[in-house]
Amino acid sequence: MTFKEFAQTWTPQIDHYLQTELAAEVTDRDFGEIMAYSVLAGGKRLRPLLFLASLAALNYPLDAHTLRAACGIELIHTYSLIHDDLPAMDNDDYRRGHLTSHKRWGEAQAILAGDALLPLGIEWLGSATHNAMLPVMMARAIGPNGMAGGQYLDIDATNNATVATDGAYLERMEWLKTGCLIQVSVEMAAELAESTPEARRGLVTFAKKFGRAYQIYDDLVDVVETSSTAGKKTHKDEATGKNNTLTLTGIARSRERLTALMAEAKDALAPVNQRVLAGFLDLFRQVL
Ligand code: IPE
Ligand code: IPE
Ligand code: MG
Ligand code: MG
Ligand code: MG
Repeated sequence: MTFKEFAQTWTPQIDHYLQTELAAEVTDRDFGEIMAYSVLAGGKRLRPLLFLASLAALNYPLDAHTLRAACGIELIHTYSLIHDDLPAMDNDDYRRGHLTSHKRWGEAQAILAGDALLPLGIEWLGSATHNAMLPVMMARAIGPNGMAGGQYLDIDATNNATVATDGAYLERMEWLKTGCLIQVSVEMAAELAESTPEARRGLVTFAKKFGRAYQIYDDLVDVVETSSTAGKKTHKDEATGKNNTLTLTGIARSRERLTALMAEAKDALAPVNQRVLAGFLDLFRQVL
């Protein structure tokens, strides 16, 4: 199966599960609608697809339980986007081609939607798999030494001339804010499938390279794509004083780095059935 076929099979199932389960599991209909608004606005569903494709690469059966766990990852990712867009953070009006949550529903409502999506995602991971390690791994990946820590460094680096030229700081910031959630999406699959150490090492190396590449890709999207293609306002990072690898090294060097990471990621897949997973890397071609 190709990546395209895999995504065409699973994306509608992810979307359908998210839609029906949010409606079924959130008692207050208005709050459920606010939460679902951002979750169902669109999005590439990359992290749940990575989780499912990693399981498939390890010959682990995909069923309603693995789908629920995958959707739990998407709830957590969506929480991170809602909070990332808040006026106190990146202050964005559009996300996934629609008004951001705080623009549509109000700031308190958006904060609370994020607050609710995060634990619901953790709950789905645990209740779907009965494997206590998955919620623990996720909590580590998005906590102070993971995504939230990276978002802190991002905010601290904004309009901060001291770190603008500090490559190691920017590396760490980008890894934490974006790489950690991507890596854990793959690592949780290796955990659930009880993969061999060799396959796990290969998958984790792939995920590290892919996760690192992802923010370089996202920062390139900001400078090379239109707002309508990206579904969010582009040409904004530099204007708002964001510091990142791209503002430090420029477009050409960022593209070189991305190309090198793509090759390294592909190489790491040797120990597993790699056809679908290698296909995720093609996404990056749109900014090269
Ligand atoms: C955007 O993530 C935010 C980052 C962590 C770079 P995605 O590019 O996966 O956004 P969606 O889910 O497709 O909307
Ligand atoms: C987002 O980085 C990282 C997280 C949401 C954790 P960005 O702020 O660059 O993402 P976009 O460009 O708003 O999607
Ligand atoms: Mg941000
Ligand atoms: Mg942002
Ligand atoms: Mg960005």
